[in-house]
Amino acid sequence: MAKITASVFTSHVPAIGAALDLGKTHEPYWQPLFQGYEYGKQWMKDNKPDVIFLVYNDHATAFSLDIIPTFAIGTAEQFQPADEGWGPRPVPVVKGHPDLASHIAQSVIQQDFDLTIVNKMDVDHGLTVPLSLMCGQPSADHFEWPCPVIPFAVNVVQYPVPSGQRCFNLGKAIRKAIETYDEDINVHIWGTGGMSHQLQGARAGLINKEFDRVFMDKLINDPQAAADISHIDYVREAGSEGIELVMWLIARGAMNDVHGGKAPLLKQRFYHVPASNTAVGHAILENQF
Ligand code: DHB
Ligand code: FE
Repeated sequence: MAKITASVFTSHVPAIGAALDLGKTHEPYWQPLFQGYEYGKQWMKDNKPDVIFLVYNDHATAFSLDIIPTFAIGTAEQFQPADEGWGPRPVPVVKGHPDLASHIAQSVIQQDFDLTIVNKMDVDHGLTVPLSLMCGQPSADHFEWPCPVIPFAVNVVQYPVPSGQRCFNLGKAIRKAIETYDEDINVHIWGTGGMSHQLQGARAGLINKEFDRVFMDKLINDPQAAADISHIDYVREAGSEGIELVMWLIARGAMNDVHGGKAPLLKQRFYHVPASNTAVGHAILENQF
């Protein structure tokens, strides 16, 4: 059977993608940030998954205000990097895993979560920046991501957005789905977006280091406490875009300890300000069996 071996958490700041694509990672502004991902890049090489289930949010790129799915699973063979106004990022096409994605859709919908099934979708910085941070820039002679990726898009852009508790419960359902897939594969589940930031209005530029620190403590050690954080507390404390953090709870809800197993091993924890307008957080948890 398939098993979830690890969860990865990371912010997705679009300027990080631009810094990578324009060769600026060694500039003094960016160097400390990319330093914080050196461990994760090596860890990815040492712990290569067969599939990444990547929870992220679309930023009005694939979904306009015309159609706003709360939870959307990508079931396609492949997903093109999106043009967000400056041309697509020069990164590989994202290869999907239609068979596992269809199995997850079947199982999770039968567990009473309404997923939108997406057979065609471009993926924006919300998905490609986490891949770049954890996998590095693929070389020209081997221009592909290390494994298939199932994109799972959550609406955290247009209200109403799902609660942290609902995301945590959804993670539990996704775990059941993956663990009933009849193939011996090793799956990572990633929760992306966050941390505190606000891009608009009178509080634009807001960063709350204390909220971010406590959130990461709870996420790692007491995920139910993180799931208890109310929507209004995210907005008040972490800024209007801090609500992206609910996506981390989907990944965390899929880990062994939430299902009566052992506590995960914390392999990496990193926090850095500033990166564009956003506080950057990153953690890696390995399941213990
Ligand atoms: C920024 C951060 C985001 O998460 C995003 O989606 C867009 C912009 C920023 O820091 O500028
Ligand atoms: Fe964002």
